Amino acid sequence: MCNIYKNTWKDAVQLTHLHITNFKNIAEADLNFSQNINALLGDNGMGKSNLLDAIYYLSFCKSFTSLPDAGIVKSGETFTMMQGDYVRRGTEEQVAFGYAAGKRKSFKRGGKEYSRLSQHIGVFPLVLVSPADMELVGGGAEGRRRFIDMLISQTAPAYLNHLIRYNSALQQRNRLLRDHVCDPNLYTAIEMTMEMSAEYITGARREITGRLREIFRKHYRDIARTEETPEAEYRSALLISGVSYGELLEQSRRKDEIIGHTTTGPHRDDLELTLDGMAVRSTASQGQSKTFTIALRLAQYEFMHEATGMRPLLLLDDIFDKLDSHRVANIVEIVNRDIFGQIFITDTNRDHLDSIMSSMTGADYSMWNVSCGNFEPVK
Ligand SMILES: Nc1ncnc2c1ncn2[C@@H]1O[C@H](COP(=O)(O)OP(=O)(O)OP(=O)(O)O)[C@@H](O)[C@H]1O
Ligand SMILES: [Mg+2]
Repeated sequence: MCNIYKNTWKDAVQLTHLHITNFKNIAEADLNFSQNINALLGDNGMGKSNLLDAIYYLSFCKSFTSLPDAGIVKSGETFTMMQGDYVRRGTEEQVAFGYAAGKRKSFKRGGKEYSRLSQHIGVFPLVLVSPADMELVGGGAEGRRRFIDMLISQTAPAYLNHLIRYNSALQQRNRLLRDHVCDPNLYTAIEMTMEMSAEYITGARREITGRLREIFRKHYRDIARTEETPEAEYRSALLISGVSYGELLEQSRRKDEIIGHTTTGPHRDDLELTLDGMAVRSTASQGQSKTFTIALRLAQYEFMHEATGMRPLLLLDDIFDKLDSHRVANIVEIVNRDIFGQIFITDTNRDHLDSIMSSMTGADYSMWNVSCGNFEPVK
């Protein structure tokens, strides 16, 4: 299907307008966005990622750089404010955020203040592909578990409750182990709670990573166009042990007492990433690792679309870095496919952005030159 139809997607979440005051290096910005692709061009340190962070903030109530709130206020100023106008499920919506140094932050949807910010997460779905994603591939299992957990939590609210229950019981068991408590009844009660939630968590992770893996492999192959075999497989001791988690915990109690913490369970699961059977973390090149992160995020996008019935906003921060010209061209082609809704993309290289725009047959797009926190439209 030709791109000209892109802006007719009824299920795409769209940010139509954004007003920013004092967010990081952006003193003031008032931007109207294209429903299709919005490109931000500029040298290093100019404010391209800061704009994406502002959009991210309005969906997740926090910065993607994990800065404390004081860090997002423009230096020398005492407050920051943002207002985003959206179209969501065919209806116009407004999200407003304000924070002043030393005060509680205010977050409103349709003029109504949230009592708990967690109620806002997932309402305006968004997927970010960022340079920090390299940690997903090169870092420890914790980051990959967080990736899976965030994905499932946004689509199945019960999952988060099980995760909280499991982690709280896990901490209680670890406390008993550290304090050398020997009462088996105490362990049994805690382990029963852990087992109940672990079954749900493992089942959900297995099911969802199974679907994710299929989409991921398709995207990897489309970007790389090589004979490589990429894999993203869920690994859990509970699935290979052949005994129940309750039995596993009981069997490992002696060992856990000596070590001082629980050595088996969903808190040790991983999403094992391999290329031709070898661990990506230790053997893949930077370009191959980058391809993994982009393919994983695009799989997250498609999965969220399937699960929520809404096309999330897609933020692509510096995605072409480390990739050869073939992979860049393949990504340009993928980005132009009709699976995505509204896209925001940053780059320091105008050729990359121009190649995306020139392949957009007839659909409208917007481009800005970003300089010291200012946004100048490119004609
Ligand atoms: N609270 C703040 N107040 C003022 N400036 C800030 C604040 N936080 C970050 N900055 C500035 O924002 C700039 C970084 O902007 P940003 O990360 O958006 O750059 P970029 O255009 O994405 O660059 P690159 O191409 O290198 O990724 C830095 O110069 C940094 O000093
Ligand atoms: Mg940047």
